[in-house]
Amino acid sequence: MCGIVGYVGPRDCSDVLVSALTKLEYRGYDSAGIAVFDDSLIKVAKSKGRLKDLIDKMEKEGKPSGHAGIGHTRWATHGEPSDINSHPHSGKRVTIVHNGIIENYKELKQFLLDNGRQFLSDTDTEVVAQLLDYYYDGDPINTIQRTVRDLRGSYSLGIVFADFVDTVYGIRCESPLIVGKGKDESFIASDVPAIINYTKNYYTLEYGEIAILKDGSVSFCDLYGKPLAKELKTADWDEKAAEKAGYEHYMIKEIHEQPSAVKTTITPRIENDMVNLTECSITDEMLKSFDRIFIVACGTAMHAGMVAKYVIEKIARVEVIVDIASEFRYRNPLITSKDLVIIISQSGETADSKAALKLSKEMGAKTLAIVNVKGSSIAREADMVIYTHAGPEIAVASTKAYMVQLSVMYLFAFELAFSKGKITKDKYIEFTKALASTPEYIEKTIEEVKDECQYISTKLLNADSLLYIGRGLDYALSMEGSLKLKEISYIHSESYAAGELKHGTISLVTEQMPVIAVVTQNDLLEKTVSNIKEVKARGAVTIVICDEHANIGNDVADYIIRIPQINPLLMPMLAAVPMQLLAYYTSVNRGNDVDKPRNLAKSVTVE
Ligand code: AGP
Repeated sequence: MCGIVGYVGPRDCSDVLVSALTKLEYRGYDSAGIAVFDDSLIKVAKSKGRLKDLIDKMEKEGKPSGHAGIGHTRWATHGEPSDINSHPHSGKRVTIVHNGIIENYKELKQFLLDNGRQFLSDTDTEVVAQLLDYYYDGDPINTIQRTVRDLRGSYSLGIVFADFVDTVYGIRCESPLIVGKGKDESFIASDVPAIINYTKNYYTLEYGEIAILKDGSVSFCDLYGKPLAKELKTADWDEKAAEKAGYEHYMIKEIHEQPSAVKTTITPRIENDMVNLTECSITDEMLKSFDRIFIVACGTAMHAGMVAKYVIEKIARVEVIVDIASEFRYRNPLITSKDLVIIISQSGETADSKAALKLSKEMGAKTLAIVNVKGSSIAREADMVIYTHAGPEIAVASTKAYMVQLSVMYLFAFELAFSKGKITKDKYIEFTKALASTPEYIEKTIEEVKDECQYISTKLLNADSLLYIGRGLDYALSMEGSLKLKEISYIHSESYAAGELKHGTISLVTEQMPVIAVVTQNDLLEKTVSNIKEVKARGAVTIVICDEHANIGNDVADYIIRIPQINPLLMPMLAAVPMQLLAYYTSVNRGNDVDKPRNLAKSVTVE
């Protein structure tokens, strides 16, 4: 996903822009560029490839020198990655960087071609630059307003006008854009980590809001030029949280941060062994009123919802429907005002999850967001929000965000089950106490299985395809294990309900296909063990993740990863760890870019 930055201030602008862009690398990109006012003229440098390629190019061809400008990392959508398609893009008097998608760019391009404009690139962005130029009347805000009126899509822009030297404009239309404010300097950026080395103070732009960065100050207006007063926020984490702190990759750092992330997330919400979610506006009365729950999300967040479904249905006896947001939004779902819709999202900006939230509200359902990024769109738009406190997650492959999503879903499930009278107070306390102890067990699990996972990952290295199997909660968890492995190792994998194998998929199993079985639910152990034996009999190398006391031996498994035993309901929080580590080490062994896997973006803000 593209990243936007902009700077106005006393420092060397090119250096600031490149340094800020490095902090957005996690979003995924295939080219980069900057535009800086150099001697009052806008100078552009851009290159296909990594930021290093841009830096090399600037060393050879000259680095723009000045104190105001915009920068961009591009994740190709319209047109292949190339120097020409890289941002910034320019019209005669306007240069822009862009994040998002312009849906009607083809018709706008035709209109501009009919009016004598010429295009260099295949991008939708150049259409916006040319349109701004077409409407330019000497008044930047008026020009932006007329242009935005014609654009359809979700996007944010960083803009410089040749006639307005050392001034940067930022506008948000859906895609996130924040504005940083330091002493005598200001910034725009797609995300807070880009500016955190310079300032912790920032504003969040809302839809249709424009920021004007000039002379070290920043002002805001709406599309009609009406000035806006905005609230200055302060990030509650510093640059260290967004750095690798001695770890080789962000992913492994974030795996190690899971115990503290869970602790920070659950501790303030457990008082005297009872869950307290009133700060999130969730009351017992409200919980009692729902007939059904929909959990809607994408990718890893949806997998956290799958675990929650098993837990909620088991202990609270409320029907839970888990939906993929991109499916939910287009299938006219059967929601009523008696339903609760829970949207889970790390970023709070995922386009399909946002659309699902909007639809649920329109259909009259109550909505609850479980979100990691404060002030993000989903957090703001939902009726209620429970923040997870994972801190910034930089690796594209989500680990700590998943873990804290699980922890919040457990809090919610316990509270729901107790309010509905489906569990006794003793049981409720037993659950909350067990949850409160998970941080220390997650830590123990990481330490105990790390080396083993590193070793076992060497057995997966040359596989073309893998199967993850499990039953019940273990099946829900294996979905996430499989996604983690495929997204960073590029090895194909599927997760399967163990009992479903015999209905077709077992025909794929040969000695070439390792099978990873999750067996943490003792009531289903014998059944899953039978399924493991079936794949082993067909030559598969079998890797079993089970608790330290499970009655599973080497007759069943070629490799056994044993994890501490806690309340069975909470075992996914421990079993997730070896799955993350297996994926991590397999990716490292294959020499992949672990934190920035190919073709992927950290947060998917367009459809
Ligand atoms: C998983 O590792 C991915 N990063 C991806 O599946 C992610 O969970 C999904 O895109 C949803 O993102 P969100 O939580 O920010 O909404």
